[in-house]
Amino acid sequence: MAHRIAVIAGDGIGPEVTAEAVKALKATRADLEFEEALVGGAAYDATGHPLPKETLELCKSADAVLLGAVGGPKWDKVEPVALRPEVGALLPLRSELNLFANVRPAKTLRPLLSASPLKGERGLVDLVVVRELTGGIYFGKPRERRDNGEVAIDTCVYSKPEVRRIAERAFEIARHRRREIVSVDKANVLETSRLWREVVDEIAAQQPDISVSHMLVDNCAMQLVRNPQQFDVILTENMFGDILSDEASMITGSLGLLPSASLSTPKNGKVFGLYEPVHGSAPDIAGQGKANPLAAILSAAMMLEYSFGDREGADRIEKAVEAALDDGLRTADVFEKGCRLVSTSEMGDAIAKKIIS
Ligand code: IPM
Ligand code: MG
Repeated sequence: MAHRIAVIAGDGIGPEVTAEAVKALKATRADLEFEEALVGGAAYDATGHPLPKETLELCKSADAVLLGAVGGPKWDKVEPVALRPEVGALLPLRSELNLFANVRPAKTLRPLLSASPLKGERGLVDLVVVRELTGGIYFGKPRERRDNGEVAIDTCVYSKPEVRRIAERAFEIARHRRREIVSVDKANVLETSRLWREVVDEIAAQQPDISVSHMLVDNCAMQLVRNPQQFDVILTENMFGDILSDEASMITGSLGLLPSASLSTPKNGKVFGLYEPVHGSAPDIAGQGKANPLAAILSAAMMLEYSFGDREGADRIEKAVEAALDDGLRTADVFEKGCRLVSTSEMGDAIAKKIIS
């Protein structure tokens, strides 16, 4: 049976890079069906809501979701805040679809090593941030203003089951890698972090084939720059994961390269997931063919692997990306002398061609 993919391209460079990811998917397999829907600012402009009911329904009924990016300065001041693309579309998508496990690999692509801000071989990383995505301070209640707006409150809450399910996912992922987890928290200050540690230690005791250590988040931020190669799997809560995944991704040279998967609980051996590039909507370069489609294309590869169990298809896409880079093709963000500057769609075409051949 065909796999149904909901394509929600969103704002800014979202539509451009998503189109290239769809190209790569079509080049890899013939049994995929694509259905498009509006999300983000584009949906707000057209319907008055950044996550229309039809879009949410489509995503719920699909086998996987491909998301571009949402948001931009045009919608930063929309009132109420609940109608802005990030708060009104991205966060509800995560919670409504139960996408509690955010997997963000940061892997340096050899041909792009010189784009890393770290010198020489130090920029060679291969790690994955496993970020809890539906709990913590992003979703805690109350979130409100008090005292005539003079005081603001955000609340950080975690329950043991919430920590357990994300930690278990990290253990599974580690088992296919170097089997090393660094669990990151702020246990010297936060109660939620002490609970986090307790749960991670319980699971570590049951799964002794995986080595587990704990690191405070400020130290982790520093270690990522000092010696990123020490990391294999970083397991952390929602907000720390937001920050550390941006930091880790930059080590690879460009935010434009990093894919991500946001996964739910497995059902019948299949994992429902939403796949999106880590970069945002980059409104400053939107519509100019300058965006790097690699993150979106590599997100499509993650979809094949995680949601459709097609490691071979994922491999073909990843190899095609490397081959295009080896040929010297570069979008503007990672351009260097001696390479050939290509547009978003030229890069996508070249990769699709390599997948087919
Ligand atoms: C991300 C983004 C989002 C987040 C924003 C846009 C709400 O930064 O996916 O990392 O903080 O989760
Ligand atoms: Mg972020």
